[in-house]
Amino acid sequence: MARRTANKSLQAKLVLLGDMGTGKTSLVLRFVKGQFSEYQESTIGAAFFTQVLSLNEATVKFDIWDTAGQERYHSLAPMYYRANSSLTMFLVANKADLEGDRKVSNEEGEEYARESGLSFLETSAKTAQNVNELFYEIAKRLVKANPSRQSGIKLHTRATESRRRYFCCA
Ligand code: GTP
Ligand code: MG
Repeated sequence: MARRTANKSLQAKLVLLGDMGTGKTSLVLRFVKGQFSEYQESTIGAAFFTQVLSLNEATVKFDIWDTAGQERYHSLAPMYYRANSSLTMFLVANKADLEGDRKVSNEEGEEYARESGLSFLETSAKTAQNVNELFYEIAKRLVKANPSRQSGIKLHTRATESRRRYFCCA
């Protein structure tokens, strides 16, 4: 979900959703800090990160909500997203480095994504495989989906800063 600000700059909200232990936090930390930990702690509630990506055509500022996958937090997840017309969705199959433990083939993943109308990428937060590619691809699609208009047009309404931290609603 995104809004265009002046100077070809897009502000986008990015929400990571998925079961516990799938590597959501690890993907964000790889993207934002270039780091990976084998002992990454399970997220409590949600965590917030920011990152800026510069493309040729625009600068994309990501507000990233890394939700908690543990069962007890499932009811919180919908607070972080609300579908709108400029939504870009990716299905990400992480831990691609664990090839020997693979349960779902790349083809199966691609087919499932196609049937569900999602884009698909296999990543590894550990080796950094496809991690930057994933976020760049999302940024490119958001720019494409939000073509230049009169500056200042809001494509979605943001909550105030203090509320946004806890009750995010695009
Ligand atoms: P919750 O916060 O509980 O929802 O989990 P999460 O989805 O944020 O997973 P997290 O990033 O905490 O990673 C869980 C475990 O998987 C950690 O021990 C990570 O080191 C490991 N892990 C994450 N990504 C990868 C990966 O790409 N490859 C491998 N081999 N391990 C990974
Ligand atoms: Mg986490």
